[in-house]
Amino acid sequence: MHAKHTADATTVEEGLAIQEEQAKYDSQFATDVAMQNTLLTPRFYTTDFDEMDAIDVSPVRAEWDGLIEEMESDPNKGHFKKNEDWDTVDWDGMEPQLKKEFIDFLISSCTAEFSGCVLYKEMKRRGKNGDIVQLFQLMARDEARHAGFINDALREAGVAVNLGFLTQKKKYTYFRPKFIYYATYLSEKIGYARYITIFRHLQANPEHRFHPIFKWFEEWCGDEFRHGEAFALLMKTDPKLTSGINVYWIKFFLTAVYATMYVRDHQRPAFHEALGVDPDWYAHEVYTKTSKLSEQIFPITLDIEHPRWQRGLVRLQKANADLAAANNFLAKIVAQAQAGAAFLSLLTIPAIRHDVPDSVRLEPAY
Ligand SMILES: [Fe+2]
Ligand SMILES: [Fe+2]
Repeated sequence: MHAKHTADATTVEEGLAIQEEQAKYDSQFATDVAMQNTLLTPRFYTTDFDEMDAIDVSPVRAEWDGLIEEMESDPNKGHFKKNEDWDTVDWDGMEPQLKKEFIDFLISSCTAEFSGCVLYKEMKRRGKNGDIVQLFQLMARDEARHAGFINDALREAGVAVNLGFLTQKKKYTYFRPKFIYYATYLSEKIGYARYITIFRHLQANPEHRFHPIFKWFEEWCGDEFRHGEAFALLMKTDPKLTSGINVYWIKFFLTAVYATMYVRDHQRPAFHEALGVDPDWYAHEVYTKTSKLSEQIFPITLDIEHPRWQRGLVRLQKANADLAAANNFLAKIVAQAQAGAAFLSLLTIPAIRHDVPDSVRLEPAY
């Protein structure tokens, strides 16, 4: 018996085959947007898969087995599918600017989910280490469902991303395994914080829920939470990854991930207004949650209460807007220099140091 919907697929291969079948209806527009590679758009990654495959999880065995068992039990099987809770969406009646920003949000989210899927699937395909292969198979399964579900929502608006085409044609960025751990761990945890913050906000203010997909965010962020836990455990197997010079790399990735989120979200004012969310409040809330979570493994957190923090973000956002509007070479150079200076100013804010607990595993607390 083969699954007909990505929500019911139990392996990544099955999930991708279903999407391949639907791809004939996908649109050039959405695929073109997903193909973009800028500092602010989701990228596809490749790495040294042999080095990752060599990880020995024995030092964290008990916690590892617990997490894998939870993922094997597949709490979200069948969840990522439209049901009676899926209210009709009035795409034609949607205010044009909101529609544009929301579609952009969906395409970008779909690309980001799929980026995880292709990386995890490749690790699963190349690996020989039973523990690693099992974990990456489970994570790829989840991300294929997430991307498939967002594409379902996009199809109602007459657009969808051709994920098979992206796999073949989108540029892959190489990251050393340790950078994959920092970047992916953070993107899973910040993904959890973003989804749960929106979910809780809309639970309290349902009049702002202008699209049904937000109802799915609670279980959704449970998957992202578990993926983040897996990367925390992988990093825990080797203390070098979170000490010495690597602490500077961790600070760099924290700053880059937080700053990118700020700039990207501020490009969607109508979307945030429709949600009834102030993007500055939202950013602060998400950073606070992500920092609290990342204390499980990172020995530092960023000082987001520092007077230079918010100022730096605003400067970076402005420089980015100037860059987008620049119509000559000089204006471009000036905006780029301003963006660089703003990022440097964020990066040089002293970080907050703390002790990391012996046990890594957390439970979703928000
Ligand atoms: Fe995901
Ligand atoms: Fe994930």
